[in-house]
Amino acid sequence: MIDNNTMTQCLHCCTATVTDTEQLGYQLGKFLKTFSKPLCMALVGDLGTGKTHFSQGVARGFGVTDEVTSPTFALMNTYDTEAGTLYHFDVYRLDDVYELENIGFSEFTEDTLSLVEWADKFPDALPLEVLWITLTAQADGSRLSVWQTSELTEAELLQIGGQYVLRD
Ligand SMILES: Nc1ncnc2c1ncn2[C@@H]1O[C@H](COP(=O)(O)OP(=O)(O)OP(=O)(O)O)[C@@H](O)[C@H]1O
Ligand SMILES: [Mg+2]
Repeated sequence: MIDNNTMTQCLHCCTATVTDTEQLGYQLGKFLKTFSKPLCMALVGDLGTGKTHFSQGVARGFGVTDEVTSPTFALMNTYDTEAGTLYHFDVYRLDDVYELENIGFSEFTEDTLSLVEWADKFPDALPLEVLWITLTAQADGSRLSVWQTSELTEAELLQIGGQYVLRD
């Protein structure tokens, strides 16, 4: 018998505009309000592919009302909401895994909800519960996102992706 919980699920989405990319993030953040399990959203993609705008949407959907800025220089932003705390990292400027240890990365990402921009730089530093989201800019300006995880069911991913899901 196939155990759905340990299967890696894959979802493809396409967002035509920056507003759509934020809205897709919003839909994920809204879902996470009632998820009540740890999850590290590992964002991958070249410069300017929309990782920060997507993260802003996630934060809004999760109930963050404060301004959400890119943590490129701060390395980490912390957002406290009624639904819990969300940690937002950007590890672009870090070169060495020891620098991550210095900022206590694992303490902030284990058993919590986190967003990590440029997560593919340090894949071994991530917790077990990961949702990989890889963004790619298309020639027409839209963004393709590929979602991979064992932490969500296919039905949950389809619910989150909603109108942006690309079906085969
Ligand atoms: N479909 C789209 N989705 C997301 N962003 C888009 C889209 N079309 C154009 N953009 C533009 O692309 C840029 C994305 O910027 P953003 O800071 O979110 O990217 P990033 O991946 O976080 O970059 P960096 O790696 O430099 O932090 C913005 O200027 C946004 O207006
Ligand atoms: Mg960014």
